Amino acid sequence: MQTHNMTMTMVAATTALLALTVAPAMAQDADGRFDIGSSATQEQIAGWDIDIHPDGTGLPEGSGTVAEGTEIYAYQCAHCHGEDPTEPVKGYPALAGGQGSLDTDKPVRTIGSYWPHATTIYDYVNRAMPFESPQSLAPDEVYAVTAYLLHVNDILPDDATLDAGSLAAVRMPNADGFHSDIWPANQADAD
Ligand code: HEC
Repeated sequence: MQTHNMTMTMVAATTALLALTVAPAMAQDADGRFDIGSSATQEQIAGWDIDIHPDGTGLPEGSGTVAEGTEIYAYQCAHCHGEDPTEPVKGYPALAGGQGSLDTDKPVRTIGSYWPHATTIYDYVNRAMPFESPQSLAPDEVYAVTAYLLHVNDILPDDATLDAGSLAAVRMPNADGFHSDIWPANQADAD
């Protein structure tokens, strides 16, 4: 009798568990969707939608100068990337230099020597830097520090100002250094 009761209890418990497991399936609405979560608001989507296209699509309003960027770099970037970005610090990527080194046996890939689009500097710094507090810079600050980095790479003069239009118009030294088809045979065909 005792054993029988215990068995019944276990069967009841198992049935209850099964009911719990299948319960969400029963909460599907007419379209087959579960009644959980909520739709993302436009504001929430905008918070994630920060990518900048190579042609500058997505760049926000705002502007910044090389002079402003020099100060921002000193406070927000130099403790990792070095007081002088042309002198790389061990363990951190160099942010300047390397021009003309890509076709040597010691290529130095930096923003200036390697990156094909200046707009990517905005995207990357805005998204990922400073390393310990990413996405903390305002658009004006990102424009300014981008202008500074382009200046120390000899791409912009020291009195330059960047905004969405002028940043998208910057032509990088290695703009033509990337190929979508790297097979030599096909390249010969294309020539
Ligand atoms: C706490 C240290 C730290 C600080 C501060 C910092 N960075 Fe960085 N930065 C890094 C590290 C580490 C990487 C490499 C990250 C990786 O490869 O994933 C990097 C990479 C970069 C790159 C990409 C370089 C390349 O050629 O791949 C850029 C550009 C850059 N940082 C700019 C900045 C700017 C501008 C600031 C200031 C606003 C800044 N960083 C502040 C640590 C830092």
